[in-house]
Amino acid sequence: MVEDEDIQKMWVGIKEPSHIINKTKKIMWSMVQFKELQMMYICALKEIRTKFEILDTDFNLLYKRNPINSIHTRLKSLESILDKLTRHNYDITLESVIENIHDVAGIRVVCSYIDDIYKIADALIQQDDITLIKRKDYIKNPKPNGYRSLHLIVEVPVFFAEHKKNVKVEVQIRTIAMDFWASLEHQLKYKKEIENQASICNELKECADVISATDEKMLKLRIKIDQAAKEPTEEDILLDKFKKLDMPIG
Ligand code: GTP
Ligand code: MG
Repeated sequence: MVEDEDIQKMWVGIKEPSHIINKTKKIMWSMVQFKELQMMYICALKEIRTKFEILDTDFNLLYKRNPINSIHTRLKSLESILDKLTRHNYDITLESVIENIHDVAGIRVVCSYIDDIYKIADALIQQDDITLIKRKDYIKNPKPNGYRSLHLIVEVPVFFAEHKKNVKVEVQIRTIAMDFWASLEHQLKYKKEIENQASICNELKECADVISATDEKMLKLRIKIDQAAKEPTEEDILLDKFKKLDMPIG
């Protein structure tokens, strides 16, 4: 952590007027505090990522398959934070960021099947150090453009050397197909003055509906396959677990 003394030393011998030095110090403090805020959000993302990785490993032991296909994390850029604060007329302070911007830390979990989305979301929310702040189910209630995803805002405690902080993280959970769709649709927002925008939006909506039907069908097929396989005996289970003894954990 940068101390006031360190910043003080930098001014030895500098002849600028004191009001300029004070203004510069204020800016430097803001930058340092913003970096520390980012650090706090990065740590919260590590906590949540680990929780999902543990759930994935445990599901593998229980059901012999990994529900999570990939995990991506991101920190909201300073530009986007300032943009959101201004758009909503919030104060431009660090306290206001913590209070009002719930997606500074974002984690996206991509699953193969729709039922896994709800299983891992419930398994996360049930953990006793997690507080659910908000839940938006865009799978049961898709957006008019066809966007589907399960969104959670959760709070997780992060333990630092000398203090504990409860930090908010935005979690988006979706299938591979929903993720594929969202990444293409997202590009549309960044392209200005697109010709045939309305017809592209219509086609995207059609794709979203096809994708949703395919997700449902794939889930039904997986359940059928699971049910068709004969119930393993206790010996089968023991043998299977024994064979995996040498496998690396994680
Ligand atoms: P933001 O101010 O954008 O954070 O939205 P919000 O606070 O109303 O929250 P919401 O849960 O609706 O959306 C959060 C995030 O989900 C967005 O920042 C996007 O990453 C994603 N998202 C929401 N709607 C769409 C959409 O229509 N298309 C795509 N591609 N992504 C979306
Ligand atoms: Mg957002």
